[in-house]
Amino acid sequence: MTTGTNTLRYLMCPPTHYEVDYIINPWMEGNVHRSSRERAVEQWEALRQILGSIADVGLVEAQMGVPDLVFTANAGLVLGQNVVLSRFFHPERQAEEPYFRAWFESQGYTVYDLPSKLTFEGAGDALFDREGRWLWAGYGFRSALESHPFLAKYFDIEVLSLRLIDSRFYHLDTCFCPLAEGYLLYYPAAFNDISNRLIEARVSPDKRITIGEPDAVYFACNAVNVERTVIVNRVTAELRSRLEGCGFSVRETPLDEFLKAGGAAKCLTLRLTEPVRNLEMPPVQVATRLVELRGHLLDSGMMTEVMDLVLKNGASFQIQDFTVGTRRQDASVARLLVTGTTAEGLEGVLTELIDRGAVLPEDATADAELQTVSQFGVAPQEFFVTNIYPTEVRIGGRWVRVDNQRMDGAIVVDPVHLSARCALLRDVQVGEQVVCGVEGIRTLHQKKHQEREEFTFMGSGVSSERRVELVVEQVAWQLRRTRERGGKTIVVAGPVVIHTGGGGHLATLIREGYIKALLGGNAIAVHDLEQAFHGTSLGVDLQRGVSVQGGHRHHLKTINLIRACGGIAQAVEQGLLRSGIFYECVRKEIPFALAGSIRDDGPLPETQMDLLKAQTEYAELIEGAEMILMLSSMLHSIGVGNMTPAGVKMVCVDINPAVVTKLADRGSVESVGVVTDVGLFLSLLVRQLHHLEGDSSAA
Ligand SMILES: NC(=O)c1ccc[n+]([C@@H]2O[C@H](COP(=O)([O-])OP(=O)(O)OC[C@H]3O[C@@H](n4cnc5c(N)ncnc54)[C@H](O)[C@@H]3O)[C@@H](O)[C@H]2O)c1
Repeated sequence: MTTGTNTLRYLMCPPTHYEVDYIINPWMEGNVHRSSRERAVEQWEALRQILGSIADVGLVEAQMGVPDLVFTANAGLVLGQNVVLSRFFHPERQAEEPYFRAWFESQGYTVYDLPSKLTFEGAGDALFDREGRWLWAGYGFRSALESHPFLAKYFDIEVLSLRLIDSRFYHLDTCFCPLAEGYLLYYPAAFNDISNRLIEARVSPDKRITIGEPDAVYFACNAVNVERTVIVNRVTAELRSRLEGCGFSVRETPLDEFLKAGGAAKCLTLRLTEPVRNLEMPPVQVATRLVELRGHLLDSGMMTEVMDLVLKNGASFQIQDFTVGTRRQDASVARLLVTGTTAEGLEGVLTELIDRGAVLPEDATADAELQTVSQFGVAPQEFFVTNIYPTEVRIGGRWVRVDNQRMDGAIVVDPVHLSARCALLRDVQVGEQVVCGVEGIRTLHQKKHQEREEFTFMGSGVSSERRVELVVEQVAWQLRRTRERGGKTIVVAGPVVIHTGGGGHLATLIREGYIKALLGGNAIAVHDLEQAFHGTSLGVDLQRGVSVQGGHRHHLKTINLIRACGGIAQAVEQGLLRSGIFYECVRKEIPFALAGSIRDDGPLPETQMDLLKAQTEYAELIEGAEMILMLSSMLHSIGVGNMTPAGVKMVCVDINPAVVTKLADRGSVESVGVVTDVGLFLSLLVRQLHHLEGDSSAA
């Protein structure tokens, strides 16, 4: 039910002290002290009269020194007797807050304040659907996305967040205007793609009145809509006829004096009687589920990540409860009602939220849904795809930890022995029970704060060259500590390590006991051995940096020689191989696994050309690793990343930032990317380790 016209109320503020005094949006540029007070008063009066003929207009008193008080849309957001007061982004407008607060309090409103630091600019950035079904909320320039859950909570309404991308349309009401009977007048270019998709998903094509640049710059969307009347600064003839075609009558009233400050009809008014919520049941295909998040939700950025994820997937959320930890070590708890446009869509979102540690609250959780495998190597289609985080599934009312955690697997459950494990699709057997759907599954993201801190500075993004030395210091420290504890550090490396002169340094790390296993392909071994036999890598003399006559044959000669010996270990035994990475591996009994590929020459006898067996060999060597150095091999590093559970520290070194980002971005704090030359990285690392050794022997 919508409130009737006779009870309509608006708030305005006379432009007694209106002036363009400062520049906080592109419209103000070039207009400072250029507005005419006289004309402004005239235009404002005209608007007030039009509005006064169809609604009550209350006034807040103008104040000297706060010229934008005239834009009452930004006072706050009102629904019923509740108002969420604005917290302005710009200091210039923050002075308005006490005047608006005083007015609302004097009128008996319940005033809600957002947590400090959350900016929100009232009805300028939050517009109720005219049927009262939901709230459209803008973010990107003035209001923080993080304010939206609070609006959802205070008003108990679904919030649809829209990202503004054009600084001329810095408030939602400058480019978006919900109209009566579900119509929407808006300027699509002011929004990002996701927001446009969201708008299109909610408003049917026949109800969408899109405008182009000419109307957008007239502030055609900054309109006041009462029933079938649209009060507006100015529209093109084309838009007028489209609006009239939809049954609206357009009342133009010039407001160009206010345009100089970036506002028009809507900005000058605040609707105090918003439509009462429509209590009809939502259409059945819309599905909702309560999820719970725990942890350092604000400082870890998890809350923002989750909200973005929900919106990105075309779903929306309402915050049911949000308790923020008061001390640094306290966890926060949020309960969100997540709504998807379909049940399947919701399940997709929930799966991603579970990946990030969300749980379906205990009181609402059933046992995990199990389905039986009917075809060898094929899971039931709805199987839950595993992630890198420790996972538990609920079986017979009890939470059971999943063994062999890795990503991209299925969870096979033994309900009799109450056990669960991750299995690769190709390994699932007929008759096995596989977890499907999202019920009764939770992933554990919580780490002790202490543990998080250690690698955090490194995990805060891809390193630039300037930060390489800093990262090297941390990695060296970590390597030493792991070695002292008898822990396991492993290396994944590509042939670039040899080409860049890093082979000797990696050999040193192995000789000195820092590395417990080596993973690679045919190439790293071939080039390391070529270096040992011929002093070249792919025919290039690394000492002199020049190609050697006939050098292009070296790597094939090398392969042939190793094949003749029967393998790398035999070449060491026979005294032929006397230096290099693989020489050190054999001498120190460090296991290695070489995974074959279609590019491989030879291959070497050790190269495993059966890829499934190679994956198994890799998985065995990864087991128990605390740290993995991934050195310039995109192919093998991605493979390793997929097999590695959360909690393992990963250092990814590559010259290509895109590769580093891909490898380091596992949503896990323990990953760090280093964009640099791998040879340089290894030489710095060895130098730093020797420096630390020197320090400790001196102590
Ligand atoms: N002779 C052979 O048998 C032979 C030769 C080459 C490659 N291969 C095979 O091809 C497959 C892929 O090989 P890959 O691991 O080299 O390729 P890859 O493309 O997976 O990785 C190479 C990575 O090294 C990075 N890189 C390049 N220069 C760098 C530098 N100076 N410092 C740091 N990073 C740098 C690149 O950005 C890239 O990400 C493997 O199976 C390998 O065994 C075989």
